[in-house]
Order: sequence, then C-alpha cells, then structure tokens
Amino acid sequence: MSTAGDGTRAVRAGLPEPRPGEPALPGPAFAAHYWLPGEADGPYTYGREANPTWTALESALGELETPDGAGRTARAVSFPSGMAAVCAVALSLLRPGDAAVLPSDGYQLLPALRELLAGFGVGVRTAPTRGDAQLALLDERVRLLWLESPCNPGLDVCDIRRLAEAAHRVGALVAVDNTLATPLGQRPLELGADFSVASGTKALTGHGDLLLGYVATLDAGLDAGVRSWRRLTGAIPGPMEAWLAHRSLATLQLRVDRQAATARALAAALRERPEVTGLRYPGLAGDPAHPVAVRQMRAGRYGCVVSFVLPGREHAQRFLSALRLVDEATSFGGVRSTAERRARWGGDAVPEGFIRFSVGAEDAEDLVADVLAALDDAARGGTAQASPLRA
Ligand SMILES: Cc1ncc(COP(=O)(O)O)c(C=O)c1O
Repeated sequence: MSTAGDGTRAVRAGLPEPRPGEPALPGPAFAAHYWLPGEADGPYTYGREANPTWTALESALGELETPDGAGRTARAVSFPSGMAAVCAVALSLLRPGDAAVLPSDGYQLLPALRELLAGFGVGVRTAPTRGDAQLALLDERVRLLWLESPCNPGLDVCDIRRLAEAAHRVGALVAVDNTLATPLGQRPLELGADFSVASGTKALTGHGDLLLGYVATLDAGLDAGVRSWRRLTGAIPGPMEAWLAHRSLATLQLRVDRQAATARALAAALRERPEVTGLRYPGLAGDPAHPVAVRQMRAGRYGCVVSFVLPGREHAQRFLSALRLVDEATSFGGVRSTAERRARWGGDAVPEGFIRFSVGAEDAEDLVADVLAALDDAARGGTAQASPLRA
C-alpha cells in the first residue's frame, strides 16, 4: 500500500483483511472488559488497556504518517483529544532539570502547559515559529523541541528538517503538532521529527462532531512510553469517536484537497480588498510562509485556514454577522466553514480585528461571493438581512 496514492491509502488505511460476511470497517467495540479465561494475556483484556476499534484507527493513522521508504510502519496511539495527545508526549518525557523549547505563537493552551512544566522544574524556553530562533535555544539540557507548523492561528511555518537535525545534534527529541496540515499535507516523521502529534478534532475527522487526538512515531520505545502514559492517566478515546474518526479518514484526501483549493481562492480574493491587512495563507505565493511550506508540505495541501485582519473589533464583528454560509464558531477543519474573531478568547497575541477563517467544503464560488458580500456589508456599517439559508 505504501506505493499507492494518498486517496487510495486514505480509503483503505487500517482496514482488516476482507472476510466473507464481515463489514469492511467493523463497527465500534463497546467493551469495558473482554472475555478472558485463564491467564491475563491476549491483546484485549480490560477497556483502559486496548480496544479493537482503537487498534484499527491507530493502524490507519500509523500508515498515513509513515514516511516513504521508511522500511517500517509508524505506530500511533489515539487519545480523547488533541490536548491529551500533546500532554502525553510532554509530560511522559520531561523530568525536573530538563529543558524544553516550545513555540511562543502556538495553540493557545501551550502557555498553560508551559506554566505546568515550569512548576515541575522543567526549564521552558520559547521561540516564534517563523525563522530559526529555536536554534540558539538548543543545548544539551534540551530534551524536547516542540514545533507547530503551520501554527495556529498565525499560520507561520518553520523548517522542520533543519530544526530536527539541530535538535538531534544536542540529543533532543522533536515533536511536531501536525493538526493543521494532516498527514496528507505534511509527514513530520519524514522530515526527521520523532513524534507527529495532532488534534484529530479538526481537519483529520472534518465534521466538527467529535474530539480526538493521536501521537505517531517510528520508534517502538517512544511509542511504548506514550502508550503507558495513556494507560496510567486513563486518557482513552471512546470507541464511537474512534470509529467515526476512522470512517472519516476515507474522505480525508477529498476534503483536504477541496478545502485547500477553496482556501487559496478565498485568500486570493481577500488580497484584493483594501480593508484586509495581515492576510496569511501558506499556499499563497508571496506569503512569508510560502517558500518553506512549498518545500515541506505535500501536494499543494496547505490547509483550510486563512487568517486576516479587519480594521477593528466592530468592523470584524459586522463582517462575521453578515456571513450567510459561514458559522461563527471556533475550531477549524470542518466541512462547514467557520470563522471567528480570535481575540475574543484573549489567549493569542492578535489584533482585535483578527479573523481566523476555516474554509469548508462549500462550492468555492458561493463561499467567496458570501465573504465578499459580507465585507461590503461590514464596510457599509452592517445592513445584512436574515439569511435565507439560516432561516
Ligand atoms: C494546533 C492545535 N493543537 C492542539 C489542539 C488541541 O486539540 P483538541 O481541541 O482536540 O484538544 C488544537 C485545538 O484547536 C490546535 O489547534
């Protein structure tokens, strides 16, 4: 399967050998315990340890994260959310006296993780995603370099291969948050990272109806460490969520290709608007992230998130209220477009008028027209009528 195209890999990933009378993807296994006569061994014993629905999902994710020509398949461990996966890597690895390098502009819960780690005696150093300021922070004390590329919500990227090589030279491990790209858009393990970590809540599963996370690695020892952390903390995904996630992988290529193409069209349209500043989309020629993104992201899949700034909070709010086809909501990656004024959360260093826009699977012409009409409306001072689509 490793030589097959991404669409083929996505629809077949993690499926069991076909057996007469069995479904292609067996349904979720709801079990707290399994029939276990005699000695306590076997793949399935107790529900916190293992579940066949996780096993299938994890082998699918491992297949998708596996670098070309790796010679072995990546192992994946699933979690009930992206944050559970992030914490599993950071907290299972780091010990008092270690140092860790984290992005200063990553997901908005990273500062809370930073504080927690500092409280445990871990020396936390931070650097922006863009550029190479991480290099100056790497020394023998650093056990973990954490990267998020593209980062949320600023959409900067970093040169993962270059930073991973530098981190390995000082003996540090490298984890990349691959949430925005998905494994079809970027394979961190191929770029030299030790862990690919993601929130599966977003583009990976793509329907905005479940939370999930995972950690993938090529290293059996690192996999065992994360797996035993899950067992200890009981941070396990529900079988229904795991099954829905696996089911959603079959459309991953269709969704990421469609959403990335529409995101590029939207970014190109926004570039023409005088009231739009700070426009970011890694797939747009001229974007500061573009040169590195072209080298390390795959098949034009630069993600579905476009960010930009409108002139102030009220203007941005009028724009969001005037959108007909876009839900004002947080999160990203879903088939229905969402947008929000990111400053409302208070956790990101962004201006009041900063919009994080997640492009869905609507027709590009409809979505771009809706956004342009909402911009016109917001510029006029907001005269939008109730949406026939939302009525
Ligand atoms: C880049 C990134 N990493 C991690 C997370 C956390 O994922 P979850 O919400 O599934 O816990 C998010 C959530 O938005 C994210 O954007």
